Amino acid sequence: MDPTRFDALCPNGRAAAVVGLQWGDEGKGKYVDLLAPGFDAVARYNGGANAGHTIVTGGQKYALHLVPSGILHKGVRAVIGNGAVVDPFQLVKEIDALAARGVDTAALVVSIRAHVVMPYHKAMDARLEAVMEEMGKAQGGRTTAIGTTKRGIGPTYAEKALRMTAVRMGDLVRGGSILEDRVRLAIGVHNPAIVASGGEALDAAAIIDELAPIAERLRPFVTDTTYLLHDVLRAGGRVLFEGGNATLLDIDHGTYPYVTSSSCSALGISTGSGVPGAMLSGVVGIMKAYTTRVGLGPMPTEIHGELAQTIRDRGGEYGTTTGRPRRIGWLDLVALRYSAMVNGVTHVAMTMLDVLGGLDEIRVCSAYEVDGVRTERFLPDAADLARATPVYEVLPGFAEDISGCRSVGELPARARALVDLVERALGVPVAFVGVGPDREQTILNLPQGGVGR
Ligand code: GDP
Ligand code: IMO
Ligand code: MG
Repeated sequence: MDPTRFDALCPNGRAAAVVGLQWGDEGKGKYVDLLAPGFDAVARYNGGANAGHTIVTGGQKYALHLVPSGILHKGVRAVIGNGAVVDPFQLVKEIDALAARGVDTAALVVSIRAHVVMPYHKAMDARLEAVMEEMGKAQGGRTTAIGTTKRGIGPTYAEKALRMTAVRMGDLVRGGSILEDRVRLAIGVHNPAIVASGGEALDAAAIIDELAPIAERLRPFVTDTTYLLHDVLRAGGRVLFEGGNATLLDIDHGTYPYVTSSSCSALGISTGSGVPGAMLSGVVGIMKAYTTRVGLGPMPTEIHGELAQTIRDRGGEYGTTTGRPRRIGWLDLVALRYSAMVNGVTHVAMTMLDVLGGLDEIRVCSAYEVDGVRTERFLPDAADLARATPVYEVLPGFAEDISGCRSVGELPARARALVDLVERALGVPVAFVGVGPDREQTILNLPQGGVGR
């Protein structure tokens, strides 16, 4: 695909973003990879290895967790910004796996300010989840776990806010007494909780020893990415931000407490990268033509049974990170309008439209009813959202295989109706329509004048 197609992405500015508008796994990786050749840098600004971003091209499939999805394109800087949390063991594994497949990772850089996910964070994540699950069962579901990815995300962000025991990438690669003292202090603080919740005590000396060779490997990648990004922009280059996780999982704006621990929406870009939000000219919101969710928490349009399984199988809806079957639901326009508003999306990519082919009907939720009251607004409280029942519009399904379509005009009218409906509901153009996982299986519907504001 000709990368100059995307030159218009930022007509009045030099930064753009790809963000998830639902509960994750919308196809962000595919669109970051697609857009990356038009940019000089691709930057993650939030989350960690809880993300799983898939790229399919040339018969090859890449599942990335920490490494930004621009890595397959030579000459594009791949930046892990300060707002991300880095599991150093996972990052080295990912770098090695890419190198083994012939992908050059020399363009990768990691913020000196990014916080480090330690083995004790993963242990705490797993133990807390297990305890909550047991408590939930004992109390008949009054408390529930979140269903985290157990990648240590919550405990690492908590440690970041706590400060005294936190370790940043700068501390890791510098090594020596500051790092060692912090690890010992953290272990001293966290071991009692890990043990009390049924886990095994961790050994500070062993962790310090394991970290040494990993730190050595990562040292060349660690830098001040804030200056790096601003240098790219000042030199006339372009930066594409890659959201990890998604808006409805945002710590502030999502379905709290059933969220992740970072600012996943476009609102997190400035704190998570050091680039002011005002420099963003395009925000591409990625949305599936239906809804999925992994883990627990309210999902008003969730469906079960045979239909859900059909969609799950057709869409390959099993977690990229944990392999868990994803929960399936109809498209929720109430949630989408809220996400589009919060992110200030300028354009939308509607993915997985092909997956809905062959269904008798397609449902779209346009409002909720809560305690007999109809609302078109998303609800800030998870308990209220759990009581919301969807009000559906029903569209006739389409029977055709659309995976070969490359323009909106080639889509059957009944498939196009869903694209039009989303465009009307959100008030922004659907600039991309996904008809399959491959980079090439994409309908470009870029409006005249580009994608930016
Ligand atoms: P991300 O976390 O948002 O990057 O999404 P994931 O990679 O976790 O999950 C999206 C899945 O859908 C991946 O397996 C993609 O290869 C696949 N995918 C992306 N777009 C499309 C599409 O338009 N149609 C189909 N059938 N699959 C898609
Ligand atoms: P990508 O970037 C789907 C979900 C987890 C859980 C909750 C909290 O691939 O879209 P965490 O481990 O972050 O503390 O888990 O958030 N979650 C995701 N679900 N896609 C993701 O990332 C997710 N990242 C976190 O399933 O419900
Ligand atoms: Mg994913």
